Order: sequence, then structure tokens, then C-alpha cells
Amino acid sequence: MAVTIEVIAWPDIERYASIPSVVRVTSILEPIVLEGGLGGIELLERSVNPYEKDYDALNPPARWPEVAPTAAWRLLLAVEDGVPVGGAAAYSDGSPRAELWDIRVRIEAQGHGIGRGLLDAASEWTASVGARSLRAETQNTNVRACRFYQRAGARLGGIDLHAYSPPVEDEVALFWYLDLIRDA
Ligand SMILES: CC(C)(COP(=O)(O)OP(=O)(O)OC[C@H]1O[C@@H](n2cnc3c(N)ncnc32)[C@H](O)[C@@H]1OP(=O)(O)O)[C@@H](O)C(=O)NCCC(=O)NCCS
Repeated sequence: MAVTIEVIAWPDIERYASIPSVVRVTSILEPIVLEGGLGGIELLERSVNPYEKDYDALNPPARWPEVAPTAAWRLLLAVEDGVPVGGAAAYSDGSPRAELWDIRVRIEAQGHGIGRGLLDAASEWTASVGARSLRAETQNTNVRACRFYQRAGARLGGIDLHAYSPPVEDEVALFWYLDLIRDA
């Protein structure tokens, strides 16, 4: 599979948005708060009745410039034979930490390293703007994304049990941090 990664500009965001970002949830990471939190928070995987979570239904790409000015973004598109198969969107406000706002791979193209390629490209850009780490938020309902970040070397650095309640009572925000510049 010959996949190339292109840098695109905001007028091309519809090409990016043509890739669905849908997760089939079959299990979640249940947070178990020990000793009121002083004993830590365990994340135990448990099965749930399957359902689909569509990221774009909540926050479509056309609205992302509300999060950060368009000039702050790096939009990356993975393309195979002219067809967009994956994308990653990151932004930087010039601080030591950049944000990976979105990463997605077409379902039929998943598991072939495209996501990792996009994450690597986003990391390279993050380092080039002088940031030391890249943060990615996901949820306890997206176990696959958690494993993807973990295998890429990211570390879970934040758990927010209340980030989405209301309106979503049973989702927990998980913040993954990828260190890009390590001290010698
Ligand atoms: C998360 C996502 C971007 C990963 O993209 P991908 O192209 O399938 O990932 P890759 O093929 O590059 O896999 C990278 C690594 O993760 C591993 N991996 C992929 N799927 C996995 C799974 N279900 N369980 C465990 N590891 C998995 C691969 O084995 C690979 O490991 P390696 O280091 O040994 O090569 C993709 O699953 C996706 O688009 N999901 C839907 C959208 C989404 O959830 N986005 C994130 C929102 S926070």
C-alpha cells in the first residue's frame, strides 16, 4: 500500500472530513477510584453493549478553527491513489506543549501503520515548532485509541472523571502525552 502524507490547508478541509471518525465501542475502561483518589485510579476494561461513537457528530472539522486560529494548525492527510485514507490535525499556541486534536484512519485502512505514520508526522511538526510534548485527549470509551497511543510511546498523564458531565455522564477524559525532546 503506497500511502503518502500531505500537508493541506483549511480550504481543503472537506477532503479531510470525507474520512469518517467512527469508533465501534465494545468495551470501556472503567475508572476505579481507590481511597478517594489517594490510592490512585485503576482503569479496568469491561465489555459493554456495542454502540457507535461518531466524533464528527459532536465536533465536525469545519468548526475546529473555533478552538485555535487557522494559522496555528497543522493539517495532515494520508492519501492512497489520490484517495484520502487518514488524517491528523494538531495545533500549537507557541507553548511547550502542542495538541493533537484529531487523528483518524478509514476503517478499512486501519491496522496498516497509517495512524502511526500520521502520529510521527504530527510529532515531527510539533518538534519543529519548538514544543517538547504532544498531548492527545481521548476517552475511556475508545480503548483502541488508548492502546494506539500507548504503543506509540505516549504516557497517560491525566484522567478527568468529570470532563464531559453533563452532557455525557459515563465518559472519562484521558490525556496522553508524547515526549518529543528528552533531556540527555
Ligand atoms: C486510532 C487509529 C487512528 C489508529 O490508526 P491505525 O492506522 O489503525 O493504527 P496503526 O495501524 O498505525 O497502528 C499503530 C500501532 O497500534 C497497534 N494497534 C492498532 N490497532 C490496535 C488494537 N486494536 N489493539 C492494540 N494495538 C493496536 C498496531 O499494532 C501498531 O503497533 P506497532 O507499533 O506494533 O506497529 C484508528 O484506529 C482510528 O482511526 N480510529 C477511529 C478514530 C479514532 O478513534 N481516533 C482517535 C480519537 S481520540
